[in-house]
Amino acid sequence: MRQVAWRSLYELLGSRVRRPEWAFMNYGYAPLDPRQETLALGPADEPDRMCIQLYDHVVGDVDLRGADVLEVGCGRGGGSSFLARYRAPRTVTGVDLSRAGIALCRRYRHAPGLSFVQGDALDLPFPDDSFDSVVNVESSHCYPSVETFLAEVHRVLRPGGNLLFADLRGKVAMAELEATLRTSPLEVVDMRDITPNVCTALEVDDDRRRALMDAWIPRPFHRPLERFVAVEGSSTHARFRAGENRYVSARLVKTTTALI
Ligand SMILES: C[S@@+](CC[C@H](N)C(=O)[O-])C[C@H]1O[C@@H](n2cnc3c(N)ncnc32)[C@H](O)[C@@H]1O
Repeated sequence: MRQVAWRSLYELLGSRVRRPEWAFMNYGYAPLDPRQETLALGPADEPDRMCIQLYDHVVGDVDLRGADVLEVGCGRGGGSSFLARYRAPRTVTGVDLSRAGIALCRRYRHAPGLSFVQGDALDLPFPDDSFDSVVNVESSHCYPSVETFLAEVHRVLRPGGNLLFADLRGKVAMAELEATLRTSPLEVVDMRDITPNVCTALEVDDDRRRALMDAWIPRPFHRPLERFVAVEGSSTHARFRAGENRYVSARLVKTTTALI
């Protein structure tokens, strides 16, 4: 899909479905190792567990305490709000291209140090060296140039800062994305294929996702949206299970300002 189509879709969803309970728009993450400790969440966050676990996985062991964090492509603000409330950063700034999405974030997501700004991932409205970590979850597939995005992230990160990244692509496009990440001005320190975790999360969460679609989206839009929501039986879900779609998470570090 082209950038203009993504932009229209997210503007439409943000302006037509203004439910505060709809806080996330990612496919989620389910830990597959039974020894892994379950993430402790408050009761109000429990319905969004799968989507929150994707953020928790992406941040991993990176210590955000006292940090200035930027989330690029913050959507409806659930991820930025989770990070602000659970990871004790100094500030979290969520930025998104969608004006309607940012209006919802400002209205419904509140926490100390949390703020939202409308802006473009390819032209971030912040000075050089202003953040310790940049979080980017399931958004980069909408960008016309991932290279430009990575150069912008490198610019706004402080030396030693992290890009905490996750997104999906078709098999061929994913190989290109991996090469782009590895040749960017940031250094890749960790990269993982999390397709099975995302697929399992979609399946665990399927009833809830369908129920929300039924409740919030007018029926004529259900068929076209099934692919986007990746419910079981949709081509998106089938492509994940067949390995034709892949989902990757990565941590990249700004090692020096002299690289570009
Ligand atoms: C699938 S949603 C993910 C939202 C959020 N990260 C989450 O996990 O709930 C993708 C988001 O990326 C945003 N986006 C797309 N292109 C963008 C751009 N060029 N700059 C900033 N945000 C963009 C969309 O508006 C949308 O909110």
